Amino acid sequence: MTVFPDHLRDLEQLGRRDRLRTLSPRTGRDFSSNDYLGLGGSQALRSAVRDALERGVPVGSGGSRLLRGNHAEHEALEAEAATFFGAEASLFFSTGYAANAALLATLPQRGDLVVHDALIHASAHEGMRAGRADCVAAAHNDVAAFADAIGQWRTSGGRGRVWLVVESLYSMDGDRAPLNDLAQLADAANAVLIVDEAHATGVFGRDGRGLCADLERRDKLITLHTCGKALGCEGALVVAPRIFVDFLVNRARSFIFSTAPSPLMASAVRAALRIVAGEPERRAELHARIDLAHRLLVPRGASDTGSQIMPVIIGEDAPTMARAASLQSAGFDVRGIRPPAIPTGTARLRLSITLNTTPDDIEALAEALA
Ligand SMILES: Cc1ncc(COP(=O)(O)O)c(C=O)c1O
Repeated sequence: MTVFPDHLRDLEQLGRRDRLRTLSPRTGRDFSSNDYLGLGGSQALRSAVRDALERGVPVGSGGSRLLRGNHAEHEALEAEAATFFGAEASLFFSTGYAANAALLATLPQRGDLVVHDALIHASAHEGMRAGRADCVAAAHNDVAAFADAIGQWRTSGGRGRVWLVVESLYSMDGDRAPLNDLAQLADAANAVLIVDEAHATGVFGRDGRGLCADLERRDKLITLHTCGKALGCEGALVVAPRIFVDFLVNRARSFIFSTAPSPLMASAVRAALRIVAGEPERRAELHARIDLAHRLLVPRGASDTGSQIMPVIIGEDAPTMARAASLQSAGFDVRGIRPPAIPTGTARLRLSITLNTTPDDIEALAEALA
């Protein structure tokens, strides 16, 4: 057998640092998925997919959107999403990762500045690495640090456009961005605000539209709504002024040189958006569980985030993984999160509250954490 010593050494090193990952089956009560509204396995989405199949919607798209892969289901979804999220246009990508990477690699130009939150998702970093703009991190949720970064760049001769990049609800911390202050800063700096709504879509905002639902500055706002979390599907919708969508269609490599997402998935996402808008009782039920989880789990070490994401910060990697393993063996699907997904020294259990678990499950987890 061929030996690849460099790769082997790297894996061994990860093992010695308690950072080796392996795939494990999904078992136990769900305190780790992002299927916040329990739509992933729901009867409602199954029926929507069955109906679409019966209407003749194909499973495979057969090509890039710019060639034969463009299907009426993609366009119907994009039109509905633009209306739902209140913007001029939207564009459907296969994953949130590809969408974030495309946005940041493509829209900011050479000579521009991207100021991003220090805790922004890996997919945004991927895009920034491939892009041509200057990029600088601002301390987490610190609007003054964003303003300073812009000021320093202008003072040192920066003349291009500024792009501010944040998540509305942070995936590993469960806290919210100060969106109104960031929007004001963006206005003052004539900047474009890009907001990744991955964990807020379907859960927060009017009709589940996310935390940007009430930001009244649509001409310089781009939002990203991933479809693999509360919407229970996969893919992502970039929602933006028409000029940016046209630009992505012409310039975003991960959109152009890639097979279009399944038209069946586009039908499923369309159904999910209708469920989110038309069945507010699901969201109300989720928020009741989030309240219960805060009452029971915060006294046992979970962070008081006010959201469905409630980390228990432990610090070091090994004890975090040991704690996760002991909860798993007690029947709870709780995962330990280690660097590089989060900063070193902040390893944590990432508790996620979804409609896949019952109030009894939350009470049982509280006892196990105690
Ligand atoms: C904040 C954020 N943005 C983007 C993504 C990527 O989305 P997807 O899983 O659809 O690739 C994730 C997924 O974990 C995320 O948490």
